Amino acid sequence: MPETPAKHPRIRSIEGYHEAYHLSIHHPEEFWASVAAPFTWRRKWDKVMSSDMASGHNTWFEGARLNITENCLDRHLASRGNKLALIYEPNDPKTRHLRLTYRELHQEVCKFANVLHNNGVEKGDRVCLYMPMIPQLAIAVLACARIGAVHSVIFAGFSATAIADRVNDAQATVVLTADGLNRGAKQIPVKRVVDEALETCSSVRRVIVVEHLGWPVHMEEGRDVWYHEEAADVPKTCPAEEMDAEDPLFILYTSGSTGKPKGVVHSTAGYMVWADYTFRNVFQVEENDVYWCTADVGWVTGHSYLLYGPLLAGSTSLMFEGIPTYPDAGRFWEVIDKHSVSIFYTAPTAIRSLMAAPLDNVLSYSLDSLRVLGSVGEPINEEAWYWYYQHVGKERCPVVDTWWQTETGGIMISAMAGITPSVPARAGLPLPGVLPVLLNQDGSEIEGNDQEGYLAIKQSWPGILRTTYGDHERARQTYFAPYPGYYFTGDGARRDENGLYRIIGRVDDVINVSGHRFGTAEIENAINQNPHVVESAVVGYPHDVKGQGIYAYVICHEGAVGKEADKVHIEASIIETIVAEIGKIAKPDKIQIVTGLPKTRSGKIMRRILRKVAEGETSSLGDTSTLLDPAVVDEIIAGKK
Ligand code: WTA
Repeated sequence: MPETPAKHPRIRSIEGYHEAYHLSIHHPEEFWASVAAPFTWRRKWDKVMSSDMASGHNTWFEGARLNITENCLDRHLASRGNKLALIYEPNDPKTRHLRLTYRELHQEVCKFANVLHNNGVEKGDRVCLYMPMIPQLAIAVLACARIGAVHSVIFAGFSATAIADRVNDAQATVVLTADGLNRGAKQIPVKRVVDEALETCSSVRRVIVVEHLGWPVHMEEGRDVWYHEEAADVPKTCPAEEMDAEDPLFILYTSGSTGKPKGVVHSTAGYMVWADYTFRNVFQVEENDVYWCTADVGWVTGHSYLLYGPLLAGSTSLMFEGIPTYPDAGRFWEVIDKHSVSIFYTAPTAIRSLMAAPLDNVLSYSLDSLRVLGSVGEPINEEAWYWYYQHVGKERCPVVDTWWQTETGGIMISAMAGITPSVPARAGLPLPGVLPVLLNQDGSEIEGNDQEGYLAIKQSWPGILRTTYGDHERARQTYFAPYPGYYFTGDGARRDENGLYRIIGRVDDVINVSGHRFGTAEIENAINQNPHVVESAVVGYPHDVKGQGIYAYVICHEGAVGKEADKVHIEASIIETIVAEIGKIAKPDKIQIVTGLPKTRSGKIMRRILRKVAEGETSSLGDTSTLLDPAVVDEIIAGKK
């Protein structure tokens, strides 16, 4: 299939930005029709958009038919068949890296798609992936999309219980995994974790296992098969399933302020157009760029900016299995030099952890190939911004601080490299199609610059989440009901004197630990599973490397904690429970065992006070007179960790 002749629109100047922005807001249908035109469509749309922000029903390119993998792969074959699509850099620098051209990737995706087909996966089925950061993960995701199965990638650091929750919620029929994974010096038996999870998942009838570490694993008779055996003689081509624009492409579970993680659903056409448009324009991608996003495919950044965005744009995307500090704190920079990476996209937490290492770790690499730097996942503090700009970008690479969310599908507020202003600690201006507003608590819009408020989005954009899986009411309640007529982000923001947005952080009970989102209630629910625990309250507090740390206040059963030794034992046991319920990534940084929590007379925990104590701001606790028992506050302060 030849690439369609129309060119993907690119913003090249600040005037171009303003023009595009104006058109996108005032004439969105005209604007997005022209952005969407160059893709490969089996059938064009009947209507560009329809939007009801009150109910949260938003559609884009309705009536269109397409397959996203034809846009990621097939249409590049004629002009870019021999261009590198994927570079895989393994955990251990001494093992060989791997490169796949667009032609090779196309073949691998087709083979995997045929294996899925042969194992009974059909259009609309949900497939969960729990895999290492290896090429087969990218291939498997695309293979799902090829045959119209809905992929749901679960970050391979989550526990068996967390996997089971997600698999059951999605009612997945097939799980894709590997024998094990490498993470720095550690190796983790992921298949074993899946086996444990599936003990409580009755919907799953097939597990396909990719061989990675060569470890022996238990294979459940009648359920588990090896990928390499299944793929031994499947065809290297596979017709792409024709999908409706609004058919779901994937589910990705993310934490909110209440309950269990929600399955955010993205659909096909709108997501595709949004991932592609934002990728090209924010990073100002050129044909010969080598682009590296360090995010795991288990998170939305890996979906939109390691896989879909770069492949839609015909770019070369690097996938890294390891961690920034293995074998040493120079690994990122070594990889950049080794593969001549020109665009580098990472998280502030990684930058801060590398800043702590001796500067030689970065200065001993040339980093000459770099052209653009990106940041994502949490606010980037000025110190980290300057370090990144000076020592990595050598003061010649613009830094794009990209604000967005799992629910937004792609970048919403960010500088476009070298085009719109890039100022430390500012995400910057909204991208075309994004109409941000700041709201007061009562939902009224705050006009003018130099203002702060709740960040909401007033107009639908192509990448907006379509629903939460199996429960649209939850999506409506969470995102559309708090401020009727708007999509509510859960973040607070400031619009500076120049109209640039600065993201302050979450205003709800979501905490962001090393760029990973957790609901405080989610962690509390996990802690409360521990038999010693009566009640708990979790808050975030500023952490030098992680951005936010997890501080847990826990009330234990009477008699459980007498001596210091009991406390140590109980804390270890609580950590074990959290690791089992959620995963290591949710381990609290501090656990304080208390005898009471500050509650109002109506029984509500006053988190404001707990947050202040965790932050060490005990002199400004504010009004505590409404507390049922003000004395507990003194006890908590006295026992602060
Ligand atoms: C935060 C990650 C400040 C924010 C793409 C948001 C940021 C949450 C930035 C979404 C940024 C993300 N500056 N804060 N550049 N990027 N955030 O769903 O609080 O994992 O609501 O998506 O991360 O996290 P999520």
